[in-house]
Amino acid sequence: MTYAPLLRVDHLAKRFPMRKGLLRRGAPSFLHAVDDVNLTIGAGECVGLVGESGCGKSTLVRVLARLLDATDGVIDFDGENLATVPAGRFAGHPRRRELQVVFQDPTESLNPRYTGFDCIAEPLRLLAGITEAGELARRVEEAATEVGLPLALLGRYPHQLSGGQKARVNIARAVAVRPRLMILDEPTAALDVSVQAIVLDLLADLRQRHGLSYLFVSHDLNVVRLMCDRVMVMYLGRIVESGPAAEVFANPAHPYTRLLVDALPRLGVPAPPVELPAGEPGSPIDPDPQQCRYASRCPKAHSKCSEISPSLTSAGTAREVACHFPLTMA
Ligand SMILES: Nc1ncnc2c1ncn2[C@@H]1O[C@H](COP(=O)(O)OP(=O)(O)OP(=O)(O)O)[C@@H](O)[C@H]1O
Ligand SMILES: [Mg+2]
Repeated sequence: MTYAPLLRVDHLAKRFPMRKGLLRRGAPSFLHAVDDVNLTIGAGECVGLVGESGCGKSTLVRVLARLLDATDGVIDFDGENLATVPAGRFAGHPRRRELQVVFQDPTESLNPRYTGFDCIAEPLRLLAGITEAGELARRVEEAATEVGLPLALLGRYPHQLSGGQKARVNIARAVAVRPRLMILDEPTAALDVSVQAIVLDLLADLRQRHGLSYLFVSHDLNVVRLMCDRVMVMYLGRIVESGPAAEVFANPAHPYTRLLVDALPRLGVPAPPVELPAGEPGSPIDPDPQQCRYASRCPKAHSKCSEISPSLTSAGTAREVACHFPLTMA
């Protein structure tokens, strides 16, 4: 299936300056949290983002959602470069309604002094400009019904709701304003396994009903395989592989994706012994621009990998990999 592009990101980078110690002098140091990322998300498409803790997923999300300023690059959202809008000004930007983020922990995202009703009404008031009481109540109830939140719970405060119910309020806040792109940063990580499945089902249903686009960040490869059309694999700030989710997981081209897939537990098969990669994971602080970020851990590393950093290049239909020696794809 092909999708008309909605979001196109070019050469996006986010570097955090490192504070220097008292005795350290010389050139300033930077932590390269997101480095030269290119991606597209089509209208109605669900794209997954996976990678180990600290690889830069949430930083990318925060830059795309304009909560953080980019150091470099373009964030083209339906023809408009949002990277030029300062993060502090985005709250009042007309595109803010169209691009919604759902974070991992609903408890942290919801104001403890707001009832469920107030939580959902707030973005409707601020982003959709709905202030008339009757219309506001109608839209809040419509959103609650959409996410399966009983209307009787709308008067409760977050501490009076279960984790699953808080997750529904959080999702209702985002869908109430009728966005086009939802960025979901580990939306079910804080939930019980049984509730996770229900919330994933709800997200899949909302996407289909409204033709929403998702950027879906998760640690869980199985969830990504189930939910996403395409997946991007991130390692130390860079996208190292992308392609159709089912194909990438069945036949990884990058040695790092292979490692992630091999670590997946499989039903009915005893867990394989965990083989830790030989080298150090590498540091995001002032990384060598000439070197592949994965070289220190890679079983296939060759001298070329320390001399030329591989960029993401085509590896068959709809697939890309950043590796000088990609694994052969069956
Ligand atoms: N505000 C900040 N200032 C300095 N460094 C930061 C800041 N935010 C994130 N980082 C660093 O950027 C890197 C990427 O962090 P990020 O939170 O994006 O990782 P992540 O992939 O979301 O991890 P996780 O899976 O654990 O959520 C880390 O090395 C982190 O320490
Ligand atoms: Mg994160």
